[in-house]
Formats: sequence, C-alpha cells, structure tokens
Amino acid sequence: MRAYELRGYEPGPGHGFEQLTLAERPDPQPGPGQVVMRVRAVSLNFRDTLVAKGLYSRKLRLPLVPCSDAAGEVIAVGGGADRFRVGDRVAANFMPAWTEGEVNEARAKSALGGDVDGVLAEQVAFDQQALVRIPEPLSFEEASTLPCAGVTAWNALMVAGKLHAGETVLVLGTGGVSIFALQFARLGGARVIVTSRSDEKLARARELGADAGINYKTTPDWEEKVWEMTSRRGVDHVVEVGGAETLPKSMRSVRFGGHIALIGNLTGRGGVDFVPIFARALRVSGIFVGSRVMFEEMNRAIAHAGLRPVIDRVFSFEQAAEALRYMEGGTHFGKIVIRLE
Ligand SMILES: NC(=O)c1ccc[n+]([C@@H]2O[C@H](COP(=O)([O-])OP(=O)(O)OC[C@H]3O[C@@H](n4cnc5c(N)ncnc54)[C@H](OP(=O)(O)O)[C@@H]3O)[C@@H](O)[C@H]2O)c1
Repeated sequence: MRAYELRGYEPGPGHGFEQLTLAERPDPQPGPGQVVMRVRAVSLNFRDTLVAKGLYSRKLRLPLVPCSDAAGEVIAVGGGADRFRVGDRVAANFMPAWTEGEVNEARAKSALGGDVDGVLAEQVAFDQQALVRIPEPLSFEEASTLPCAGVTAWNALMVAGKLHAGETVLVLGTGGVSIFALQFARLGGARVIVTSRSDEKLARARELGADAGINYKTTPDWEEKVWEMTSRRGVDHVVEVGGAETLPKSMRSVRFGGHIALIGNLTGRGGVDFVPIFARALRVSGIFVGSRVMFEEMNRAIAHAGLRPVIDRVFSFEQAAEALRYMEGGTHFGKIVIRLE
C-alpha cells in the first residue's frame, strides 16, 4: 500500500512540502485487538502544515506518516477485536490512547501524525479502542473532518465550556475549528459572533447561522465592536485560536467571569498580560482535542441534528502537497479534505 512519508523539513513560508514522499509500505496486518482501516478520506488541520515544516516539533521521529484525521472502512479484524466488523464505517480518535476521562502525558503522546505515524496512507492499523463509528448520513469526506477540528470545538464549548442556550459565543476566524464551533454553538442555542479577514467569508458564516460578523482587517479594534454588540457586557465564551495577537482582545471581549477556550496560536505565542484573567475572574480552559467518549457524544449530536461538516475543497491523494499549500494560504472556509479512491 502507499503512504506519504515526511523525510525532512523545509521550514519557512514560500517553501513547498517537497519532503513529503509517496512511498510503498507493506500492508498493515491487524495484531490482537486491532483493526485495519482502508482510508477513504483524510482531512487537514493547521497542525499538519506545522509538522511538515518542522515548526510543530523538531523532536518528531522521521520518516513520519503525517496527518491525524481519517475516515474509512474496516477491512480486517485481529484476534479478540470485537467492537467492529469488516465493512464498518469508522474514524480514529486524534489521540488513540485517550478513550475517556482526562488527558495525561501518555495519552497526549499517542497523537496521530505527531509522535506516532499518522493517517495519510491507504491503510492504517489501529487498536479497536481508538475507533468510533461515523454518523450514518455523513460521507467519508465529511466524517474525516471530525477527529481534530470537530472534537476540539465540541470539547471547547460543550465539555469544558458547559455551554448554555441563550449564551453568546465569539468565534475567531472561519477555519476548521471555528466553523465547527459556530455550528455547535448554534446547535446549543447560543448567539454567535464571528470574526474574519474577509467580508465574503463573514457572509457565508451568516448563512450557516452566525448572528453577526466583524472583519478584523477593516475593524482592527474588533473587541470594541463585540462590546457594543453585547450591550457592553461581553460574550460568554471565546473560541480562541489566534494566540498572541488575539488573546488580549479576546480577554476584553469576554464578560466578567466568562470562558475562554484556549486552542491555538495562529498569530504567534509572544508574551500576553495575564492580569485580566484573575482581575476579571475569567475561566480559561486549555483545550487539547478530546477523548473518544467526547467524539462519540459529538457524533450522536451530529446525527440527531442532521449537522453536515463544511468542506471547502477536496484534493486527490496525489495532490497532498498542493492541499497543504492551499491550507497554508488561508483562503479556505471550513475544512480541506484529501480523498483516496
Ligand atoms: N489545541 C487543540 O487541540 C487544537 C486543535 C485544533 C487546532 N488547533 C489550533 O487552532 C488553530 C486553528 O486551527 P485550524 O486547523 O482550525 O486552522 P485553519 O483551518 O487553518 O483556520 C485558520 C483560520 O484562522 C483565522 N485566522 C487567522 N489569523 C487570525 C486572526 N488574527 N484573527 C482571527 N482569525 C484568524 C483565519 O480565518 P479567516 O480567513 O476567516 O480570517 C484562518 O482561515 C491553529 O493554531 C491550530 O494549531 C488546536
């Protein structure tokens, strides 16, 4: 079977992803308690661009099969594996070892496409405990978007955030995590404010149910606008994917005692004044994707609500490097997917 291998790093913008090499590897055989997935779709996360450039961690062992998020069908079942049968439609949890409860170091180290080989391959063997059934109506492409972006947004708002109907959620940007956050906030009966660099993307967010949008390029002091939009109270939750540049503004956008789900650092990691966290009694949750149990809960909600993930563009397996370049360009809205025939 074919698998992509990352064999070195080409750091910096402008570089391609030339170190990504399509290689032949032996078909994986299921060990005891394992199942083999024939991968039908892989979705990209911002992390995958960082991994490929050596910006995520230089300690990763190469060659590495990149990417964490896949959906496919079971094609072989090992001895003692009784959760799935050949033909079942499945997806793998981002951290295969985090089934339930809290995350710990050992669970975190099982993250696919980082410390261990990922899923940008035609077949992958998993411990059966790592897998979930995918919601019935979803295509493989749609289901492949769930493991990282979907579960992260679910954890941020529904688990760590304990969202209540009638609350207001501020979502930064219109990438993978943020669009799921918009959809889940709507599902939970919340009012949603979205920021974006683009008016066109804000219009699309409105079509998906966002109540208001702010262009952070034309309104650099967007936190003041959020303050106005919430009658000078602030939002109840911020889905914080921006990091150094956005976090100070997020802390000024949230209400006294409100919740910030700290997820990403798209704008860097520089020093941030933390005083507002205690001075305004903010609740800050560090989010690292989520457990298999959270994934299963989310899937039940998706199936019940008929929610469909938003896919911006689908690339072929042979176009993996192009797909990563496209993600780096930042013009996408929602998720980018690689389809395997
Ligand atoms: N902690 C975790 O468990 C976890 C899980 C998943 C992702 N993450 C992190 O979360 C971040 C987002 O990941 P992703 O995969 O969703 O990325 P993505 O799909 O590439 O989305 C990035 C989007 O963020 C928006 N953005 C960029 N700069 C911004 C700014 N200054 N203000 C507001 N929005 C801005 C852009 O939206 P517009 O084009 O609309 O402006 C961009 O499209 C990354 O840092 C990633 O590493 C963390």
